[in-house]
Amino acid sequence: MGFLGCGRIADLQCLGYLAHPRAEITAVCDADPARARARAEAWGAARVHAEPEALFADPDVDAVEILTPHDLHEAHATAALIAGKHVSLQKPPTRTLDELDRLAAVAAGSGRVLRVFENFSHYPPHLRAKALVDEGAVGTPLSVRVKTAAGRFGDGWEVTPATQAWRLDPERCGGGATTFDHGYHCFQMARLFVPAPVERVHAFIHWTQLAERAWIDGPALISWRYAGDPPRLGSWEVIASVGMRVRSDYYVSDDRLEIHGSEGILWVNRCTGRLLEEPSVVLYRDGETRAFHDLETDWAASFRRGGIDFVDALLEGRTPAQSLGDARETLVFALAAARSAATGREVALGEVRGAPAPPVGR
Ligand SMILES: NC(=O)c1ccc[n+]([C@@H]2O[C@H](COP(=O)([O-])OP(=O)(O)OC[C@H]3O[C@@H](n4cnc5c(N)ncnc54)[C@H](O)[C@@H]3O)[C@@H](O)[C@H]2O)c1
Repeated sequence: MGFLGCGRIADLQCLGYLAHPRAEITAVCDADPARARARAEAWGAARVHAEPEALFADPDVDAVEILTPHDLHEAHATAALIAGKHVSLQKPPTRTLDELDRLAAVAAGSGRVLRVFENFSHYPPHLRAKALVDEGAVGTPLSVRVKTAAGRFGDGWEVTPATQAWRLDPERCGGGATTFDHGYHCFQMARLFVPAPVERVHAFIHWTQLAERAWIDGPALISWRYAGDPPRLGSWEVIASVGMRVRSDYYVSDDRLEIHGSEGILWVNRCTGRLLEEPSVVLYRDGETRAFHDLETDWAASFRRGGIDFVDALLEGRTPAQSLGDARETLVFALAAARSAATGREVALGEVRGAPAPPVGR
């Protein structure tokens, strides 16, 4: 593996490749040479490249992990694929559908694998919840509710001003740091538990001023309807409690899920942080509550598993757990939510996909 981008999330993104017996991180590249050298030393990587092109030309690199800001994703992933490398690209894959479609076309013609990595899909409590839903533990899933609670700064990971700067710039990020960047995870979760496409979305997104020229998109309340029958709805709410301590080894926020079905309710009580010391997964059914305690709950596990899946997929010649089509659909959802908030109206995902919108009304 070669790593392009050795910033904040590289701390966790390396875990699967370091753990896999048949993988090795052989080379790194970052615009900040000191950062790249420190990572190479920590990971035992033999080479530090000053430029992405040199990393992509390195014969000891079979695949690259791309961890750069979103405005660079398309260019970096395209160049890596053309150079003959497999690519694991962090979510959100691109800022726009046009960027993603161009990239997918390059991938299709390259004979190499392009995987978009979204780590919540590999988080053990989410996987257990998904297995329970698929086994029918809550009957027919009818509603998915996601709740993100952000807390006061200073209690978890340090996030440098440089990292904050590109993320808070909607042009470089592709949208809001909360509802587009972090939102990609929550939209993915919304899609994971209901076996139907999301059809329509309505978003209320308030922009809060942080500094003279820095705004963050939150609080926000986003709701949606899945296609078909029975009627199935979902919602995602994000709240910043700036005086509240969130126990976390990572970002000072946490995400909880509630899945209502025709016969029961399922909760996933944690993810990025350790906000609630509740069992990570709880099932209510037939008047009884069952808690699942035997799960690995550290958020880092999702990155480790996701890295291992990518290596296994390459070795086995199979599609990684997350397909490109799946990544595209989540991006459509995120873009539809942003469009709804900007226009103050409900948006059909078909509008964003380019397909005709389903009829409005009853
Ligand atoms: N899955 C998650 O939960 C999660 C969390 C954080 C970040 N991410 C994603 O990971 C990616 C990186 O985020 P981050 O928080 O680590 O950002 P970061 O700003 O901390 O790191 C980005 C790194 O890229 C380097 N870089 C920028 N331009 C470069 C160039 N042209 N050539 C070489 N290096 C360059 C920077 O020097 C920096 O070290 C983003 O896509 C982000 O959305 C995902």
